Amino acid sequence: MKTTAHRPLRLLFPLLLLTSLAAIPAIAQTRPVPNPQLASRELNERVNALLSKMTLDEKIGQLVQYSAGYATGPGASNLRYDELAAKGAVGSMLNVVGAEATNHYQHIAVEKSRLHIPIIFGLDVIHGHRTTFPVPLAVAASWDPAAAETVARYGAVEARADGIPWVFSPMVDIARDPRWGRIIESSGEDPYLGSAMARAWVKGYQQDDLSKPDSAAVSVKHFAAYGGAIAGRDYNAVDMSEISLRQVYLKPYHAAVEAGAATLMSSFNSINGVPGSANPFTLTQILRHEWGFDGFVVSDWGAVAELMNHSIGDGPTVARKALGAGVDMDMEGNLYGTVIASQVRAGKIPEPVVDEAVRRILRVKFALGLFDHPYTQPGPAYDATPERRAAARKVADETFVLLKNEPVEGVGALLPLTAKARKVALIGPLADNQRDVLGAWAVTGDPKYVVTLRTALTERLGDRLLYAEGCDLLSGEDANVLKRVNFNGAVAEDAHLPVPDDAKTIAEAVETAKQADVAILALGESTNWMEGEASSRTKLGFTGAQEQLLEAVVATGKPVILVVLAGRPLELKWAASHVPAILEAWSPGVEAGHAVADVLFGDVNPSGKLPSSFPRAVGQEPLYYAQLPTGRPAHGDLGHLPQNPDEKFMSRYMDEENSALFPFGWGLSYTRFSYSQPTISRAEVPLREVLASHKPVTMVGVDVKNTGSVAGTEVVQLYLRNTAASVEQPVRELKGFARVTLAPGEQKHVEFPLGFDELNFYNVQMQRTVEPTTYKIWVGGSSLASAETSLRVVE
Ligand code: BGC
Repeated sequence: MKTTAHRPLRLLFPLLLLTSLAAIPAIAQTRPVPNPQLASRELNERVNALLSKMTLDEKIGQLVQYSAGYATGPGASNLRYDELAAKGAVGSMLNVVGAEATNHYQHIAVEKSRLHIPIIFGLDVIHGHRTTFPVPLAVAASWDPAAAETVARYGAVEARADGIPWVFSPMVDIARDPRWGRIIESSGEDPYLGSAMARAWVKGYQQDDLSKPDSAAVSVKHFAAYGGAIAGRDYNAVDMSEISLRQVYLKPYHAAVEAGAATLMSSFNSINGVPGSANPFTLTQILRHEWGFDGFVVSDWGAVAELMNHSIGDGPTVARKALGAGVDMDMEGNLYGTVIASQVRAGKIPEPVVDEAVRRILRVKFALGLFDHPYTQPGPAYDATPERRAAARKVADETFVLLKNEPVEGVGALLPLTAKARKVALIGPLADNQRDVLGAWAVTGDPKYVVTLRTALTERLGDRLLYAEGCDLLSGEDANVLKRVNFNGAVAEDAHLPVPDDAKTIAEAVETAKQADVAILALGESTNWMEGEASSRTKLGFTGAQEQLLEAVVATGKPVILVVLAGRPLELKWAASHVPAILEAWSPGVEAGHAVADVLFGDVNPSGKLPSSFPRAVGQEPLYYAQLPTGRPAHGDLGHLPQNPDEKFMSRYMDEENSALFPFGWGLSYTRFSYSQPTISRAEVPLREVLASHKPVTMVGVDVKNTGSVAGTEVVQLYLRNTAASVEQPVRELKGFARVTLAPGEQKHVEFPLGFDELNFYNVQMQRTVEPTTYKIWVGGSSLASAETSLRVVE
């Protein structure tokens, strides 16, 4: 059977010659694409008719958003929202959840305000709403866009039931530095994988039809390049070349816009010295003019007021700059609401600028059908039904990455667990912990629904399961870390407090392990307060006494399986050389225990692949596979080949290898896959043909065979390297992938199309182009793929 690898559908644009693009045909360039859902004449006529009736104050009312529930940032406003809504001075609210709460404000806005304009309620629905699915980084590890679509679909349905037609998702920031806590909300380090996921999230939420009662408008965030924060410190400046910005960081946002994203969120960070929330280059030049975005832009929380901290002016000045740059709505800044009117009256802001922002917001409100159906019918209280649980479990099953599964002498491979493991010791602070495996953006998820690993293993093993907590996530000296990282600086009541006596609890765990045939350690991070926003870390090891616990249990000589539950790549160097089996399970959500047990017992064969490189040491960060070349490459940069220790004057560390401990795309299975030599339908193509359209010009084919004894799913990956371009290109770049399920002994042929979309790069004139060159092409099961072919593009 033949599988054709994932490739986005592209619109074919007419060939236009633009003088500024010199010799490169216009087909090669980005064309603005109108969003059919926001561009219709009828919709725009309704918007203009309403706009013509609005006073300046009513217009400005549409540009403000207040948080009237819990706070998801500092300095939440505390205003008389009822009065403001009655005056038409509240265009939007966030953090108001539930039919009753949203209807309360909606009734006031629609029934009491002069023009009856409904409020648009927005919320962070990130990995599910009431039903908590695995975190986005985990979803990306599935390499299955359909999984992202499923999570988004459940999120939208449940959000709409709670009165929320607008979700602050997906986060499509490229994240190449796991010190940055928000890597958990991303799809990892790669623009190709990130773009595929971005499209799927948008599709899942919006269903290509905003008017459906169970669609939710997305807010793609955080525009732009928020993930490039220097040193991985949250909210920090971003400083990068325009080529990197366009070729890597902007790609997934563009993919989301092309998929019809209705709104975007502007970022906190500056980009090359200009704050993201007052940046005409990104917000107007690129977003509006180059991409043709028709939706609206909301600022991130307080980002407009924070422009003052970026030293670009006082309150009125920064509000003017933000609005002028293209930020249409001010989230919790309280600046647009207070300073725009007087500036318009003083002639400093032209009223048409305000009008345009209002138009963009009203378009989305109309498209969502809010004018016709402003209220939410209260429904039954939420219940984690079997159907919802099954969906969460199915997604989680796909997200786990088997990092290592080496045979143990006299036992064989530890995973999947077999009946030989009569007694199993389950140990660790995350083994029986509902809160800390839920995920970082589960503000509306409830830990009470979480099935822990202990519960799930008890269902399978009964009293053959032994349990010991072993240690806490923190020990004494980490206590002030906890204080610092907690939201708003407060120590959460239910956060783990330091355990005073690690030595005692570790000794108990060691005794427990000694009584068992195999020990499973569940270690990692608290998703409640160690990951996500404002949770950057300088260390990537296990916190507290977890590493000591692991070493003590390994020292018993009992075979150990390590299950890592964390929202970022951790430093697993010691574990990788001392523990035979390691499963990366991320933050799996409500079905954590069941899903991990599915894989541990082999009911599900693991198929996840890393969306993010795992470092040997934190000092390698930012570490990603698509590095630019150096004139002095050290051996082994791509693989795990030993570097020559005598090699001096090379681009390498004195004290560590360059390569990742577990590279991008890595992930094992309980079966094995073999790859044929890849073939290419045309090994040489004329340049003019590549530049002429977005159609594929050649196909790379490979046969993948399951050579093991159980069925399995392999993520077949295609990488290429442009070996001769006017601008240096990464040593490898992902340009195709396909999930292929194979029965034992089965073989499938997979084909990857290559054309302009896969082959282009940005030249120094910022044009997307292809030049005569040779592409090396590799196909395989990770970024270390070695089966090779090539393509020549000739004059
Ligand atoms: C975050 C956004 C989020 C917003 C609203 C901000 O602090 O950066 O991702 O959508 O708060 O909660």
